[in-house]
Amino acid sequence: MRAIVYDRYGPPDVLRLEEIELPTPKLDEVLVKIYATTVTRADCATREANRRSGLLVTVISRLVSGIRRPRQRVLGSELAGRVEAVGASVTEFTVGDQVFATTGFRFGAHAEFTCIPENARIAHKPPGLSFEEAATICDGGLNALWCLRLADLREGKKILIYGASGAIGTAGVQLARYFGADVTAVCSTKNLELVRSLGADRVIDYTQEDFTRNGETYDFIFDAVGKHSFKRSSGSLKRGGIYLATDGLRNLLLGMWTSRIGDKKVIFSIPPRYTKQDVLFLKELVEAGRYRAVIDRCYPLEAVVEAARYVETEQKTGNVVLTVTDDRA
Ligand SMILES: NC(=O)c1ccc[n+]([C@@H]2O[C@H](COP(=O)([O-])OP(=O)(O)OC[C@H]3O[C@@H](n4cnc5c(N)ncnc54)[C@H](OP(=O)(O)O)[C@@H]3O)[C@@H](O)[C@H]2O)c1
Repeated sequence: MRAIVYDRYGPPDVLRLEEIELPTPKLDEVLVKIYATTVTRADCATREANRRSGLLVTVISRLVSGIRRPRQRVLGSELAGRVEAVGASVTEFTVGDQVFATTGFRFGAHAEFTCIPENARIAHKPPGLSFEEAATICDGGLNALWCLRLADLREGKKILIYGASGAIGTAGVQLARYFGADVTAVCSTKNLELVRSLGADRVIDYTQEDFTRNGETYDFIFDAVGKHSFKRSSGSLKRGGIYLATDGLRNLLLGMWTSRIGDKKVIFSIPPRYTKQDVLFLKELVEAGRYRAVIDRCYPLEAVVEAARYVETEQKTGNVVLTVTDDRA
């Protein structure tokens, strides 16, 4: 089968198309023919061994992914496609079912096929959703869900979401709205309308207004893009308020520090733990019209280098999709 592989850590050019062996499903696994997958920030960070995050994070990254070279040669953690074969003990899926899934840090989705245990994070694709849309449900959605649940976000609470136009941000706005929070979203001018359409009660254009200076205070500040900081934003938190982080080693330390000292907390918990129930929860929201995928660009699988370069600009709006095959008859 065709797959995008890499054998050394580095820039997008280390990625190349290669023929690799077709996997065989184990007893409890399904073999999925992948129609669409995505390029995420996690794919890019793993591919370059997190070199942008400093030496310590690079060392940790290599300990996890392979010290000299990547153990898992195929990146990609989100996918949508069709079940091609099932192991003997599989009961939830049958051949031909349309599914979407996330493989998380097991990766392997930048390929024509992958095997997934039926009790892992895989579910039937919501009817009416394209494979491209379905492929983008999990990454930002599960990440945002993890953060908002850690914060125990509830009806009537005031949350500000910084970086509201990225994969995690667009999901965060919709989920916060679903949980009944009062949502203020911060993004740049070009994304204001999109973010408003996702359900934000208020939008702030950070090129025109600095939210830390407008006198408003919030129960939660969710930095969905890792570009703000507890220090800069703590004046905009209410007493007992929480800064939710998605990135940055310093936030781990701040999380420990603020759990003992001060009345405002930092919450940053890694690695996030996602379950199949979380995937089913997002599926239900999609089916109820409460959650939708935001797609910026689609590339063919062969253009993965170009797609990864674009994701690395840190300017994508929502998600970037790779179309793996058009053989969908
Ligand atoms: N996605 C993952 O797999 C994953 C997993 C774990 C952690 N993370 C971390 O979570 C963070 C967000 O990931 P993501 O995939 O959601 O991001 P993303 O989609 O790449 O975010 C891109 C968006 O961020 C906004 N942005 C860029 N620079 C900004 C700045 N200086 N200030 C405010 N907004 C800015 C841009 O929108 P505007 O033009 O509207 O500002 C752009 O639309 C990253 O730090 C990533 O490392 C990601």
